[in-house]
Amino acid sequence: MASLTVRQIDEALKQQLRLRAAHHGRSVEDEIRNILRDAASDTETPPAPAPGRHANEPAPVRRVLLIIGGGIAAYKSLDLIRRLKERGIAVRCILTKAAEEFITPLSAGAITGERVFSDLFDPTHEFDVGHIRLAREADLIVVAPATADLMAKMANGLANDLATAVLLAAKAKIVLAPAMNPAMWSHKATQRNLAQLAADGVTFIGPNSGEMAESGERGLGRMAEPLEIAAGVERIFKAAGAPQPLQGKRVLITAGPTHEPIDPVRYIANRSSGKQGYAIAQAAAAAGADVTLISGPVNLPKPDGVKVVSVETARDMLEAVERALPADVAIFAAAVADWRVANVGAQKIKKKAGSATPELSLTENPDILSTIAHRPSGRPSLVIGFAAETENVEANAKAKLARKGCDWILANDVSPDTGIMGGDNNTITLVTISGAEPWPPQSKEDAATMLIARISAALKGDKS
Ligand SMILES: Cc1cc2nc3c(=O)[nH]c(=O)nc-3n(C[C@H](O)[C@H](O)[C@H](O)COP(=O)(O)O)c2cc1C
Repeated sequence: MASLTVRQIDEALKQQLRLRAAHHGRSVEDEIRNILRDAASDTETPPAPAPGRHANEPAPVRRVLLIIGGGIAAYKSLDLIRRLKERGIAVRCILTKAAEEFITPLSAGAITGERVFSDLFDPTHEFDVGHIRLAREADLIVVAPATADLMAKMANGLANDLATAVLLAAKAKIVLAPAMNPAMWSHKATQRNLAQLAADGVTFIGPNSGEMAESGERGLGRMAEPLEIAAGVERIFKAAGAPQPLQGKRVLITAGPTHEPIDPVRYIANRSSGKQGYAIAQAAAAAGADVTLISGPVNLPKPDGVKVVSVETARDMLEAVERALPADVAIFAAAVADWRVANVGAQKIKKKAGSATPELSLTENPDILSTIAHRPSGRPSLVIGFAAETENVEANAKAKLARKGCDWILANDVSPDTGIMGGDNNTITLVTISGAEPWPPQSKEDAATMLIARISAALKGDKS
């Protein structure tokens, strides 16, 4: 490769370079490196990674454009830059004007090692890079924190600052990590914008539930943690290069417990965390499926690329499942309460001195798995249930398979000493009409990946 020293450049050009370098706060050598890099990436887009890429070939650089909005969580985005860079991802940063009230371009620039952009009408920037190039040169755009304001502008196609102009010009996938006060998040306008953006193909990571920056405030609206966002970004890059065996398939999944009310303040619940169902939803989405996750009350971030419908009771869950049909595959991972209270108190049941302890009379809930498996029409071609057992796991699962009329049962031993209920690992036995296949103990994510691989094979005609 030819080498060029600054001394060989003529004086007028050197002077121009000095001015540009000073403007960008770089050395002249760094400025030249940037110009050459930009020129190279402008004329020649690196080829997409071939599936059989040689092991010695360096992996192509994955480029994230991080747009930081004006919320308190902006400080966490500085850590997010580090987390992305740790994963070998190149990060460019745009700060909205409001974001500059919370963090400085200097700190973001120091961590990215690049100039930070914020002004749509900055003539040097428009000449150098420009908003169209910022949009075009990103493999993925991450907005974190995504403010209520940015979501509203995006949902309506506004482009009146650098961040929104880039978002409107972008062809790359867009990921939002919303962060706002729970009242702002649950506001009808924000929920409308959320639905519009999801319909436009935008992916969401979070928000999470928990403590807010404002003292004493709790609820849904906390930005997902930087590690969670970085893991989500990694998954998206992986999925982009991975085969999509469930492309074009609709997958319906239930997850979590149900809450069956006793009175307006009390309910009957169970220890299901929803982790296994959420992991399956994530794996199905990564395999290219169109996924609807019907979730009981859990404390988990929404898996990216998945439509989540939140419900409370078994009856709500059945209704949501029926509304979400048709589907090619239905996986019932929720721990649905078998019974509900027959007469739910309209008012809080009061403890009165000397009066008898109240008695709860229970009535049976609908059986969601059996209802869907026995549908005379519109039955998904693969109906999969979970059997959470504490004894005779395999025998009970085989009986359940026959009784419920489903195709597969994933049986697991949820005795307290297994730590499966609420834990991160699972030991599953897959029970089908042809027999029982014990799977090794593994993380719920790995079990989900294994299940999705089995489903993909079954839909291709290799049904167990
Ligand atoms: C102290 C403070 C904290 C704020 N935190 C948030 C927030 O967490 N989420 C949000 O949506 N808006 C928040 N706002 C309001 C935004 O800063 C405001 O809507 C701004 O216009 C957003 O601009 P941007 O979307 O261009 O970044 C906050 C405002 C202040 C003064």
